[in-house]
Amino acid sequence: MEEFLGDYKRTVYCGDVTEAMIGQELTVMGWVAKQRNLGSLIFADLRDRAGILQVVFDSTVLSQEDYAKAESIRTEFVIAAKGKLRIRESINDKIKTGKVELLVDEFKLLSQANTTPFFIGDASANVNEALKLKYRYLDLRNSSLQQKLMIRSRVAKSIRDYLTECGFLEIETPFLGRSTPEGARDYLVPSRVHPGTFYALPQSPQLYKQLLMISGFDRYFQIARCFRDEDLRANRQPEFTQVDLEMSFVDSERDVMDIAEGMIKKIFSEYKGLKLDYAFPVMTYAEAMDRFGSDKPDTRFGLEIKNITELVDGCEFKAFADNCTKGKSVRAINAEGFASMLSRKEIDRLVELAKTYKAKGLAYGIMKEEGFNCSFAKFLTEKQIDNIIKKMNIKVGDVLFVCADTDETVFAALGALRLALAEKGNLIDKNRFDFLWIVDFPMFEWDEERNRYVAKHHPFTSPKTEDIPLIATDPAAVRAKAYDLVINGEEAGGGSIRIHSKELQQTVFNALGFSDADIKERFGFFVEAFNYGTPPHGGLAFGLDRLIMQLTDTDNIKDVIAFPKVQNASDLMTDAPNIVEDKQLDELEIALKNGNN
Ligand code: AMO
Repeated sequence: MEEFLGDYKRTVYCGDVTEAMIGQELTVMGWVAKQRNLGSLIFADLRDRAGILQVVFDSTVLSQEDYAKAESIRTEFVIAAKGKLRIRESINDKIKTGKVELLVDEFKLLSQANTTPFFIGDASANVNEALKLKYRYLDLRNSSLQQKLMIRSRVAKSIRDYLTECGFLEIETPFLGRSTPEGARDYLVPSRVHPGTFYALPQSPQLYKQLLMISGFDRYFQIARCFRDEDLRANRQPEFTQVDLEMSFVDSERDVMDIAEGMIKKIFSEYKGLKLDYAFPVMTYAEAMDRFGSDKPDTRFGLEIKNITELVDGCEFKAFADNCTKGKSVRAINAEGFASMLSRKEIDRLVELAKTYKAKGLAYGIMKEEGFNCSFAKFLTEKQIDNIIKKMNIKVGDVLFVCADTDETVFAALGALRLALAEKGNLIDKNRFDFLWIVDFPMFEWDEERNRYVAKHHPFTSPKTEDIPLIATDPAAVRAKAYDLVINGEEAGGGSIRIHSKELQQTVFNALGFSDADIKERFGFFVEAFNYGTPPHGGLAFGLDRLIMQLTDTDNIKDVIAFPKVQNASDLMTDAPNIVEDKQLDELEIALKNGNN
């Protein structure tokens, strides 16, 4: 029979019990993690969010009736126990409370439990993930997940404290908004009151936060849920959380970066113990691409990319020679000391990897004692090969990889190759944290599908003042006042200084190929707001989930979200998304293409 708490009041969490409490009368509550019945004594590990405490039921202390009740206790039963804390006979070094135990003098059995689909504890690490997600509330009893969510809660508080101290106001913005294309696909919510129309869940509070600047709130922040219907990856969820901020009367990137950098330093020193008494390095987008083939380079290891276009220009190897024109290049990575680590098969695999990034191939050469052994040697002069060896600093035991293609493909392929090599060679020091600002992003990028330029960040990002004249003549060369913070090769956050001048906004819209009618339809309310006095402003957003992943050393975003979704965006526990009743569809005046349910 399940009992009620009655006058029981918890005096301490199981995991917070200390030796200083020996001799005290305590009341603890929690789940039975395991129990052992030795006949006249029963030992149980009682678990709550703070940890585990051994409790002892002694048949010489308890009434016969209570002892029988204790004998009925099974794993995951919920109990409340009162008793005196004493020293344990056999010490358990593995738990914080391993030197003490509670001798129970009375207890209540608050809830029974069926046998759980998997054992809760360290062993559940090997349980199938789908099963754990179906019973997420049980998996969440595991201390490793509880720890991560507790850190998440504390980090959110630290962030609130920091931003509040910096004068930011926490303001909520709507979930039910209007679809504003650009960016990812929207999640839509049909309106019942206005049949045939839809709200869109926010991909970010971008427009609202800028409007709050126009309203005069000066500094805004929000720990905001965002929704994006995009392909999921290990660090992406369809709903995720941003630490979103915006500030007025700034027009230098540095103003926003300083606030953000202060916040990151605070939480990484509080929760990772890092001493970050230096300014985070800043690198331009162009340099990041050139050296690392990525706008979020992992700088914890070398394997930098070098441009050898000039050295092979005019050579007889067509694959190289054809890529020595504008917008194309020949670049290489020297995988130092990798000759002994890479079998022929592994090299083939790396070539395949490059091909997944659209590279037509990857040439390679191995420096052996007897000389440089490479497939393209016969097409190049000795001098050309020598120059490559010198520029790439190739020594015996090194493997050279060369990619010749459009710049975009070369960067993508060699960027990915770099990461794969680092993984293979175990080059990444997991205890190291590299923080890096990437600045001067291109303002526009060409979109093949839409056959027009699109904004790389978003259309409200300000171009660099000195690049404004280029908007009309060479849009691809325009740099934006945009910045990303990269932590260990992951984009932790990003933002920009916004356009606050109507004329400049118009110029940018024109460059994006928006007609006046397009602008009115897509962003009419927003553009109108700019007519009524707009302060210079800028902001940024961090992915909170990603920050927590880094603070808790996990590479799985699901570990830091209480109820996450799987790859195909469904929730295995609630079985969402799911069909709805015909009546609900009728009310929304929605008919399914293939007939209602
Ligand atoms: P952006 O689109 O770069 O900027 O998003 C900011 C940060 O949010 C995180 N993030 C995600 N995290 C988990 N799952 C996802 N699907 C996901 N998508 C993005 C990333 C990213 O750096 N409004 C602008 C910010 C601004 O300009 O102020 C914005 O949303 O860590």
